[in-house]
Amino acid sequence: MKNLIVMTLAMLIAGTAAAAGTTDHFLADRHVERGVKCESCHVNGDTSKPVRKAQCLACHKSYEELAKKTANVHPNPHFNHYGERDCTTCHKGHQQSTLSCSQCHKFNLKTP
Ligand code: HEC
Ligand code: HEC
Ligand code: HEC
Ligand code: HEC
Repeated sequence: MKNLIVMTLAMLIAGTAAAAGTTDHFLADRHVERGVKCESCHVNGDTSKPVRKAQCLACHKSYEELAKKTANVHPNPHFNHYGERDCTTCHKGHQQSTLSCSQCHKFNLKTP
């Protein structure tokens, strides 16, 4: 009986972990799901090189266009004194994204 309870608990915990795993849905995964190829971000499929903004802008056009999309976000993550850096200073491919502004500021922004 005691073993059964322990086993049930272990299964419940494992189940929760699996569910949490599916919410770990990083930017690259979401792109791949939309039909974006690895090579669209990784030039010639070389994953050892950093992904530069030119790669992202091939589809996302320009900082100006992005700034329009986030015009109602304050401060605008795509139009500010920090300049037009590589997107990956904030948007990560296969891990939790960050906010480069946080080195100096405390803004309530969440990077997808
Ligand atoms: C081959 C085209 C393509 C490339 C390359 C690409 N994207 Fe996207 N991205 C899309 C499409 C299509 C969408 C969905 C429509 C939209 O939100 O604009 C999207 C959505 C997004 C979103 C919002 C939705 C989400 O899932 O978070 C972010 C943020 C994003 N892209 C960032 C990037 C960054 C950063 C790069 C480069 C590292 C990049 N994209 C490269 C096509 C692309
Ligand atoms: C300083 C950090 C930072 C940089 C650099 C940055 N972003 Fe973002 N981005 C954000 C944040 C934060 C959001 C979410 C804004 C919000 O709250 O809706 C966002 C949202 C987006 C979205 C979703 C916009 C929508 O439809 O609502 C796209 C697409 C995107 N970024 C693409 C890019 C691309 C491509 C680059 C590089 C050219 C880039 N970003 C550079 C922080 C950044
Ligand atoms: C939306 C752009 C994007 C797409 C699509 C993408 N990646 Fe990445 N990838 C990145 C970025 C950005 C990095 C740099 C590290 C990070 O941000 O996680 C990276 C890093 C990597 C690395 C280096 C190890 C690591 O995790 O840091 C490997 C391996 C990799 N990607 C494999 C792939 C494969 C395989 C695919 C296709 C299934 C793919 N990537 C699709 C953006 C992308
Ligand atoms: C290396 C440090 C540093 C980084 C990184 C940085 N800032 Fe700043 N920022 C400053 C300083 C210094 C000032 C001027 C002093 C002040 O007003 O706080 C400032 C002022 C500002 C202001 C006007 C004052 C305010 O707080 O309302 C805004 C808005 C702002 N930054 C947004 C951003 C955004 C958005 C990012 C990220 C994309 C960013 N900053 C990244 C240092 C930084």
